[in-house]
Order: sequence, then structure tokens, then C-alpha cells
Amino acid sequence: MSVIAVVGAQWGDEGKGRVVDYLAADADLVIRYGGGNNAGHTVVNPHGHFKLHLIPSGIFHPGTRNLLGNGVVINPPALIRELDELEAAGIGCSKLFISDRAHVVMPYHVLLDQLEERERGPAKLGTTSRGIGPAYVDKVARRGFRVVDLLEPDAFRDQLATALARVRRLVSGYFEAGDSGDDLHATIEAATDEEKIGEEYIAAGRRLASRVVDGQALVDEALGDGQRILLEGQLGTMRDLDWGTYPYVTSSSPIPGGASLGAGLPAVRIDRVVGVAKAYTTAVGAGPLPVELSDADGDLLRERGVEYGTSTGRPRRCGWYDAVAVRFSVRLAGYSSIALTKLDVLDTMARVRICVAYRDPSTDRRWDTVPASASVYERLEPVYEEMRGWKTDTSAARSWDELPPEARAYVERLEALAGVPISLLSVGPERDQMILRGS
Ligand code: IMP
Repeated sequence: MSVIAVVGAQWGDEGKGRVVDYLAADADLVIRYGGGNNAGHTVVNPHGHFKLHLIPSGIFHPGTRNLLGNGVVINPPALIRELDELEAAGIGCSKLFISDRAHVVMPYHVLLDQLEERERGPAKLGTTSRGIGPAYVDKVARRGFRVVDLLEPDAFRDQLATALARVRRLVSGYFEAGDSGDDLHATIEAATDEEKIGEEYIAAGRRLASRVVDGQALVDEALGDGQRILLEGQLGTMRDLDWGTYPYVTSSSPIPGGASLGAGLPAVRIDRVVGVAKAYTTAVGAGPLPVELSDADGDLLRERGVEYGTSTGRPRRCGWYDAVAVRFSVRLAGYSSIALTKLDVLDTMARVRICVAYRDPSTDRRWDTVPASASVYERLEPVYEEMRGWKTDTSAARSWDELPPEARAYVERLEALAGVPISLLSVGPERDQMILRGS
């Protein structure tokens, strides 16, 4: 292995964290390249059960360095809380580094995320309310704070005064619209309190200073030394800003193009891309999801798969495996192989279904790809193929041959539909509940 990107092939929550945790045993450097603490990576290993939001999943391997790349947006108080929690659990975090070019999530980004969602009313996107979208908006508008700015207190305070004057002008519009509740007033006061934010963020800068590095230089040196690098994706193709179910997307690019940009390495240096897909489908947040089930099968997937958001606790929308969405992701991301997670969640099903195409009931047109329009996508119905379930506990299987024939047939069918080998399978949350096929 030299440089491997681990990318979500569905709507996020595919189990990238545990795949990175598994692969990180052989990695020298793990880099998060996008998103922020909207992410929720669940990792279960001999150290315990962890929910990571910002810190790369390589943190559990003492020899591995971890970098929050320039493409990440960092909420400093949230990062410090996560560091404290890990260190309290006995996980050493001395090998966590932060790119000086990463952008900073400010308290008013969180406020704007919430206000914008309220304003959308029934058309809300279902964001995580962590200020991710507004932080990326400020980055693109060239008025964002970067980690390097936290290290220059005087300039930071000046920039903060300008930023807060703009935010106050902006939020006054919400009052004019009749939004004058006391709660909102208090929230706005807290999110625009110049003195408090200045103190908190400059103190956070001091606390994090020893970890702040020129990320590109660190990555370049690692490449030069032939180190093994893992690029850890956040979310999945279907929430990609360009390719996901726009506008029900995040504000960054989870696909490998985003990895090159957000980690600071040339795209041609990525040797392999591992796509991570769940053996069924889940999504949190709004937007089209043709395979969504609102029946007993959906409930079973949610309960057996413990499908509740790691960051927000929201119940995830569940459905059968969507081969159209995964194939779309394969075309965009060019996976070398796929890691299929949570196969064991299907163990009790008498039959399993795979969505192999969509159908537009108003025209009877068949769709073999994902439409650009969310309203068209919303009305598409899944075309299913059905296979026999295996009704056998697979959680103790550690090799391909130990899986029941029906489970192998299911995986082989998914493989044929994706056109990419499925080389890793997970059959439970523990680190060793993995089946490696091939190398
Ligand atoms: P945002 O990234 O908070 O702006 O949310 C945009 C969309 O991405 C919403 O549908 C969220 O539910 C979804 N989303 C954000 N982070 C995650 C995650 O870690 N897992 C799954 N969905 C997520």
C-alpha cells in the first residue's frame, strides 16, 4: 500500500471509520480530507467503543500519524472536547496534526445553519446543524478564518470584529421577518459575543498550536519517504456537493477528487480507492431515497443495524441495497475494490432485495442512473431483484468459505452489478469481524 483513499459509496455512514481503523494498522499517516464534526465515525476496537467526529480513525494505532487536512472545517472547541475524551479513555493523541490551511467553524456558522434551516421550513435539508455549510460558504466567499489565523491573536480579533458586524446585519433580517423569540435572541447573543468568542478561539489556538503544521509539507515528506498514506473520506457520493442529490448534499466533496484537494497531494499519487458500501442503504437528512422502506423490513434494518446518527442521534432512513446509486459512485470514484459492511444485519431476512434500476411511474421510463433533478428522483420507484436470504448467523465467519451459499450469492450479485471486486466484508462491529477476499 502507498496511498489509498477510503470513500463512501452511498449516502454516508457506510462504515468508513471501521474500514480505516482496520487498514490503519498498516498505515503511517491517515488524513481526513473534508467535512467537519458533522461526521460520525463509529469505531469499536480493543480500546472500547468510540464515536469520532473530527479526529481521523487512525488515532487508535500508536505508530500512525493523523492529519486534519486543509479541506476539513474545524470547530476548535469541539475538537478539543474530542481530544479530551479520547485522552481520558487512555488513547494518546500526540500524533494528531492540523493543517494550517484548514478553515474554522465559528459559533455564528452554527447559528446561521440553524436559521437557514428554519427559513427553509418544510423544504429543509436536514443538515446536522454543525455550521458546516455556512463555514464552507465563507471559505468560498474568501472571508473565512483558517487555523493559521487562530495563532495571530491581534489580527484574529480585527477580523472577528468585521465578521461579526456582517453577521449581525444578516441576522437582523430574521427579526424583521417576525422571529423575535427570547430563545433566538439569547442564541444570537451567544453566537455573536465578540469578547467571549475572541477569548475562546484564541485560547483554543494556543492549546492546538503545537499540532498545527504546513499540511502539504508533511504530506510531501511522507510521500517522499514512501510512507503508507490513507485518505479518510467523510459522507458519500450521494451527498457530494456536485454529484449528490442536490440540494440535499453537504458542502464539500467526499469523492476522490476532493481527497486530492483536501489532503494536499497530487491526484496521480492516489494508488487505490476503496469504496465503502453497506449491504443495504441508509441515509440521514432529507432528499430523495427511492429504496426507503417504511415497513417491518425497514424497522428491522434500523434495529439490527443500530441505524441512529452518530453525530445527531437521528434515526436513519433505511432501505434495500441500491445498486444504481453504488454504480453511479463507482463511475465517479473509480474504485479499485469495495468494502461491503454490515452483511450480518441481513442475517434474519427470509429474502433480500436489490434495487437494480428505477422506474418513473408517470412515463414508465426506466432509469439506470441517478437523475440531476431532485424532484424527478423523488418520484422514481425502485425496480427490485429478489434473492433468497440465508437465515444464518454470519457474525462468526472469518473467511469467504464460512459464509452460507446464499450470502455468497448475494455478495457476488452486488459485485457483478458494481463491476468492481468486493474484497473486504464486515460481519459485525468488532475489529476482527472482517472477511478479506483476495489481497
Ligand atoms: P451538513 O453536512 O450538516 O450540511 O448536512 C448536509 C447533509 O449531509 C444532510 O442530509 C445531513 O444529514 C448529511 N450528513 C452530514 N454529515 C453526515 C454524516 O456523518 N453521516 C450521514 N449523513 C450526514
